[in-house]
Amino acid sequence: MTRAKTPAHVAIIMDGNGRWAQNRGRPRTFGHQRGVERVREIVRACPDLGVSTLTLFAFSSENWKRPGYEVSVLMQLFRRYIVREVDELDSMDVRVRFIGNRARLPRDLQRLMGQMEERTAQNARLTLQIAVSYGSRDEITQAVQSLAQQAADGQIAAQDIDEEAISGALFSGGLPDPDLVIRTSGEMRISNFLLWQIAYAEFTFVEECWPDFSPELFAQVLASYGTRERRFGKISAQL
Ligand code: FPP
Repeated sequence: MTRAKTPAHVAIIMDGNGRWAQNRGRPRTFGHQRGVERVREIVRACPDLGVSTLTLFAFSSENWKRPGYEVSVLMQLFRRYIVREVDELDSMDVRVRFIGNRARLPRDLQRLMGQMEERTAQNARLTLQIAVSYGSRDEITQAVQSLAQQAADGQIAAQDIDEEAISGALFSGGLPDPDLVIRTSGEMRISNFLLWQIAYAEFTFVEECWPDFSPELFAQVLASYGTRERRFGKISAQL
């Protein structure tokens, strides 16, 4: 029987920062600050746990509807994360990529993101993909538009638009699909996250809010993934 072993690509919906803080009588933004600390720890834990790609859902296209103050604190946390972490991530051989609609982000943040990507582009130990201003339907829409444009320009034939072409045209093009999706805080939703890419992924929903998602808990979730059998539509005997 083929066991799933270690997931090469883990995608995480980091949910529950606001509730975690409010349960402690603190403002929601305090939860986001703690959330950044967890991001640092989980990223550092990945290489030793055998994870080679980590995708983090940091800010959705729907999150723009939150109060202006919370949005601006989150933008500031992203800026600070990049400025403070870039040297260490580079020295840890981590390649950072951002996916999402960048045009909506503040100009200086777009610039910092581009610089971080450029600086770490040649790194290979871990790929850290951060989804900011990201929505999966938005991503699929722009991929379809770009392929349709190529067809209209005569660069490709309509029949060339197969699954591989669509995967390649997504923001995440070139990366393997996630093997495991984790969502914290007990919510069981996908929230417009990597809809195309998670077709065959396994799912784990944990009760803990993101600020309580420790590297130990992460290791436990990965160990339990290792006991599952992934069949990709086949039956056990065929694997
Ligand atoms: C969900 O909790 C979390 C977010 C919308 C923001 C996630 C951001 C971070 C963890 C910090 C920054 C990340 C990086 C990569 C530097 P919520 O606010 O929806 O919580 P709630 O469901 O309790 O309201």
